[in-house]
Amino acid sequence: MKDELRSHLWFHLVCICLASSIIRILGKSSGIDSESYVIACGSSSRGTDSDGRVWWPDSKFLASPANSVPAAAQFQDPSLPSTVPYMSARVFTAQSSYKFSVPSRTRLWLRLHFYPSAYSDLDPSNAYFAVTANEFALMNNFSASITAQALTQAYIIREFSLTPVGSGDLNITFTPSTAHDGAYAFVNGIEIIRMPDMFEQATMVGFSDQAVPVDGSSLQTLYRLNVGGQYIPPTNDSGLTRTWYDDTPYLFGAAAGVTSAADKNVRVQYSPDVPEYIAPLDVYSTARTMGPDPKVNQNYNLTWVFQIDVNFTYIVRFHFLDFLLGKVNQRVFDIFVNNQTAQASADVIAWSGSEGAPVYKDFATYVSNGAGDEQLWVALHPSVSMKPEYYDAILNGLEIFKMNDSNGNLAGPNPVPSQMLVHAEAEAAKKFAPSGPSSTGQVIGGIAGGVLGFAIVVSVCLFVRHRRNEANGTESRVGKWLPLYGSSRASTTTTTSKSTISGKSSGTSSHLSSLAGGLCRHFSLFEIKHATKNFDESQVIGVGGFGKVYKGMIDGGSTAVAIKRSNPSSEQGVHEFQTEIEMLSKLRHKHLVSLIGFCEEDGEMILVYDYMANGTLREHMYKGNNPPLSWKQRLEICIGAARGLHYLHTGAKYTIIHRDVKTTNILLDERWVAKVSDFGLSKTGPNLNQTHVSTVVKGSFGYLDPEYFRRQQLTEKSDVYSFGVVLFEALCGRPALNPSLPKEQVSLADWARHCHRKGNLEHIIDPHIKGQVSSECYRKFAETAEKCLADRGLDRPSMGDVLWNLEFALQLQENPDDAADLAAEREGHDVPRSMFGTDEGTAVSGGEIQHDSNPNAVFSQLVNPSGR
Ligand SMILES: *[C@@H]1O[C@H](CO)[C@@H](O)[C@H](O)[C@H]1NC(C)=O
Ligand SMILES: *[C@@H]1O[C@H](CO)[C@@H](O)[C@H](O)[C@H]1NC(C)=O
Ligand SMILES: *[C@@H]1O[C@H](CO)[C@@H](O)[C@H](O)[C@H]1NC(C)=O
Repeated sequence: MKDELRSHLWFHLVCICLASSIIRILGKSSGIDSESYVIACGSSSRGTDSDGRVWWPDSKFLASPANSVPAAAQFQDPSLPSTVPYMSARVFTAQSSYKFSVPSRTRLWLRLHFYPSAYSDLDPSNAYFAVTANEFALMNNFSASITAQALTQAYIIREFSLTPVGSGDLNITFTPSTAHDGAYAFVNGIEIIRMPDMFEQATMVGFSDQAVPVDGSSLQTLYRLNVGGQYIPPTNDSGLTRTWYDDTPYLFGAAAGVTSAADKNVRVQYSPDVPEYIAPLDVYSTARTMGPDPKVNQNYNLTWVFQIDVNFTYIVRFHFLDFLLGKVNQRVFDIFVNNQTAQASADVIAWSGSEGAPVYKDFATYVSNGAGDEQLWVALHPSVSMKPEYYDAILNGLEIFKMNDSNGNLAGPNPVPSQMLVHAEAEAAKKFAPSGPSSTGQVIGGIAGGVLGFAIVVSVCLFVRHRRNEANGTESRVGKWLPLYGSSRASTTTTTSKSTISGKSSGTSSHLSSLAGGLCRHFSLFEIKHATKNFDESQVIGVGGFGKVYKGMIDGGSTAVAIKRSNPSSEQGVHEFQTEIEMLSKLRHKHLVSLIGFCEEDGEMILVYDYMANGTLREHMYKGNNPPLSWKQRLEICIGAARGLHYLHTGAKYTIIHRDVKTTNILLDERWVAKVSDFGLSKTGPNLNQTHVSTVVKGSFGYLDPEYFRRQQLTEKSDVYSFGVVLFEALCGRPALNPSLPKEQVSLADWARHCHRKGNLEHIIDPHIKGQVSSECYRKFAETAEKCLADRGLDRPSMGDVLWNLEFALQLQENPDDAADLAAEREGHDVPRSMFGTDEGTAVSGGEIQHDSNPNAVFSQLVNPSGR
């Protein structure tokens, strides 16, 4: 008996040892070890975020518990990625520290998460504080709320790479600022992740023989971009849980080059010199190049611009992999950093030795006062003197780190919020106070069913306007009431503090250009008049809430554009106009209508867009004299639109919610490519005095998310709902609302769901396409559309899931045999983010091993140094 027990114990011990060495081997192979702390501050129990990472309570790491209290945020901003760790915080009323025991001789990522919100009646604008990590000053007089406002973000993540600590303890200290009365400090989340030594030395720009040692310094990550690619979430980053962002917001000028993605059969060959932890596959397998025309390429620089703080040294890391060309001297280019040559004649293939091998290069540059106006410029240009085969340049990834100064300091000043944003928020708060109830509420009670209060009034107005416009035969976007809030995404809104806002003078155009980051063109009124035959009525292609839309020809008649002219008599709209330019100029996607430029002269406010030769999706289904689209065309258009929306939701740094998804906002170009338009109601990021934006219901009746009505909280799932209505429109070939039908059929959303439940949806398929829809495809499509219309946003799929399901439906229609493979692939490792449940017991992410047993036991295991 005893022996049996003993052998049992031995067996267990052996298992544990085996398991931990396997864990270590796995950890080593991806370049990291399993020690890490992922802490939700102020939280009393562990929680899982939307990526499936587990966050642990913080109290056992507090060195002086008396100086702090846990607190819960009173408002949840819809753009928060997850309630964990943002909805709980630790608030410090006096200097206080966390103490973590960490392995020595090891670099660490430290990430601090801040969500500036009201915590137990504390005013978010009173939080001013300093943060230190051992001898390094990370932040000083930091205001999370000012920073968030300036960056138009709801929350802020600061990432540092700390040089190895001597003692084995890492003390993170929060100190409320003494310069402000009643100042307090807070933090929502802390991550400490062991990282490999990825920094050695960097070449000093302008002194190619001088190397700057990086290994003894701590760094702050300022930018980390997947150039020519998309946002990469922490869960897709080889265990180091870094986030990589799209580079388009930082591109300078209209010349953005072209993006490309590596073929599936190009193998990226990591090596001991460039191991996988340097950057994930997704970074190296997408790139931005200058474009196919050597003449054009010779005449411009592919340029990115970044806001930075002066008096620091910056490390700029370039990631390269040329998967397009394979020979030396085919593509040779110069790299400039802040107008100085960092590298002449860069030849990626010569560096890497072969096509599939990634390389990276580190350069250092010191930015002093006045130089470059607190900006860091990175530019690429073909090395014409080398006579390469192609005049071109390539970049796959870019990281910018700030080095601590000689005092061990990394802190910079708080950014200055754009006066325009401050002003627009104040205006919005004034203008959009909810109105009182009205007796017309009962008129549409039968339609809106159960919707209460002023929401009904709003919907009545929308409904009435909708019908009136219907009668006029013109299309209009109802309810363009709110300015959107810029998507300056962390860099571009600094110039406004210098210039005054005046929508009526042409003097602001340079200001607007700078808001747009030089990304869009400035047209003169003369050019616009010429393009539209002096605003001739024959050129009008649409009328919207903003004014008329004209077709025009620019550039000597070579390019067709859509010109949106605001009604000159309307005073309103100056801020909308400015914010629209600021935001739209930075969004570029195949399935979004691009803003080409603007004109602001003589009190005119004019926006110039891509011209969409085939008009709106709606007029090709049941409105107008066009032959109805085939089922396959409809499917492809829905897929294109889903891609555009998916990009708005996830491709940009912050979630952008369209808010007015409908068939008249899905436009078709000459090749029937779908483009989402009119994100004039879109909303990004935060509002520090939260309530005003969340309480005004916007959008078009017939497409409005019932949950948004009820709770008046906006999430991207409201777009998913509206898109579900679009899908049913495409299937059934009828408008979202048709008041001439019997009551139960007026709303397509209600009627389609009713029919789907009763199993007779097939009866309401558009007779024009009925014979074309295969039954498998129909089932998948209808099921997807139905899920989009779920009552609760939580039960609706993400736009990414919708997209996948529509592509699958197309496969089922075209190639039912391949469809099975596609489904299998999805079952395998290639699961989109949204598919990770919150199944805590099984998820392994971020290099930390998660158990569902006692958290303390896990910690002792996680922090046990492995003698690296
Ligand atoms: C940068 O350093 C210079 C010289 O030491 C100093 O005059 C200037 O005030 C500093 N600028 C900032 C923003 O700290
Ligand atoms: C590209 O940038 C470099 C460095 O700033 C500059 O010297 C050069 O004139 C630029 N070339 C073009 C074509 O703009
Ligand atoms: C950063 O701080 C460390 C420690 O104080 C110091 O040794 C190092 O020289 C500093 N780095 C720079 C670039 O001044």
